[in-house]
Amino acid sequence: MRVVAVLGGQWGDEGKGKVVDLLSDRFDIVARYHGGHNAGHTVKFGDRHFALHLLPSGIVRGRKGVIGPGVVVDPEALLSEIDALSATGISIGDNLLLSDRAHVILPYHRLLDGARERAAGDAKLGTTLRGIGPAYESAAARHGVRVADLFRPEILARRVSSLAAEMGALLSALGEPDVPLPESVIESLAKSAVRIAPYVTDTGRYLRHHLASGGTLLGEGAHGAMLDLSAGTYPFVTSSTCTSAGLAAGLQISPRALDASIVVLKAYTTRVGAGPFPTELSDATGEYLRARGNEYGTTTGRPRRTGWFDAVVARTSVALSGADAIAITKLDVLDDLEQIPVCVAYRLEGRPIDSLPPLVEDVARLEPVYETLPGWKSKTTAVTRYEDLPPAAVRYVRFLEEAAGAPAAFIATGPRREETIRRPDSNFLAALPPAG
Ligand code: GDP
Ligand code: IMO
Ligand code: MG
Repeated sequence: MRVVAVLGGQWGDEGKGKVVDLLSDRFDIVARYHGGHNAGHTVKFGDRHFALHLLPSGIVRGRKGVIGPGVVVDPEALLSEIDALSATGISIGDNLLLSDRAHVILPYHRLLDGARERAAGDAKLGTTLRGIGPAYESAAARHGVRVADLFRPEILARRVSSLAAEMGALLSALGEPDVPLPESVIESLAKSAVRIAPYVTDTGRYLRHHLASGGTLLGEGAHGAMLDLSAGTYPFVTSSTCTSAGLAAGLQISPRALDASIVVLKAYTTRVGAGPFPTELSDATGEYLRARGNEYGTTTGRPRRTGWFDAVVARTSVALSGADAIAITKLDVLDDLEQIPVCVAYRLEGRPIDSLPPLVEDVARLEPVYETLPGWKSKTTAVTRYEDLPPAAVRYVRFLEEAAGAPAAFIATGPRREETIRRPDSNFLAALPPAG
């Protein structure tokens, strides 16, 4: 097993950063292949705490980080993240490669994201306002600016000017008062370009060579399968492919290269931003999960909506990514509960269904069918041995594995690297490359 992907199985913030960190010592390279700085991935160990947005999480563990062509990159956001990480003692130099084909998020994209959200009023998506959707739109519309353009002044000026003309009209129509002039955008891009130049290369070619010569690679998924542009709760989704299917295209490597994938699932569910959430708890229990799980966005600080584990979502996500294993996170957050409901199916207009309907209007009307499991009412925080889990917690884990359709390789019992159970019988863990 040389190429592995880590994916989110819910609506994001499942604990992918932690799982990537746990696996990073087995791989030469950790690569982001989609999304942008809308992602917020947390890595904690000892007394250290990192929040990564664009930089692959493996970089804090000394791995080479690759930002692939499928990622949309805001150069200023990238540089400030590099500076912030450098200030903590992790210097970024030849340990980072940025694709020359990645699309650039321009101020117009960010402004359009905000203007559209404002114009939508109550119907807004609750985006992270980072310009992600509009940048992918420009890519698909074939008028985007890519990293390679930044180093060719005439080409850059032409592309930015034509984008500015089109987007400026759109922004004015949406009532945006401060549309920057192309000259000022070009000037600031040129400044950023000087600093990002050392990282820029044809990462696709680099990775294809790396894999052809026997190297290993960990793909770091962002967001979650229910935020996938195609398979998620459209239109309340992000604008990229959030399943393992996006890895090959987003890194420009062969789809045959992927050997295995692991889907990360929180032991309950959260969602940040708008959109339907069948198992949402809008009561004191939901508030309890938010407080106990510290459910506030890593990127925007927004309170996350909370609810019970949804087995239909988990099963769908495992199937979409062909996951060999799951990682269950935040088991400790459930420690004090008397009973824990798990949604095993839904009812729509009284009829049972076991998959998500295509229309969010119908997803919003689903009534979850719950099976209730007994809580364990004892502390699992920082437990590292499977046999030390209370029997009711083991039963809960088994139920989730069965429901999701894949065995758990990791069970996280706290935010820190050390607070993790590695399942001794995991075929997934046994097949990993040796630690190095
Ligand atoms: P990501 O976007 O999937 O990487 O997840 P985030 O980092 O945005 O959010 C997950 C949050 O849960 C972070 O604050 C983590 O430190 C924290 N976390 C991860 N695993 C556990 C766990 O097992 N228990 C607890 N209590 N916190 C966890
Ligand atoms: P990580 O990688 C949680 C959500 C936003 C919004 C929708 C669209 O940390 O799991 P966007 O700015 O992408 O156009 O917003 O997607 N969203 C996330 N929610 N975690 C994330 O990333 C997210 N990335 C996007 O809240 O509902
Ligand atoms: Mg996050």
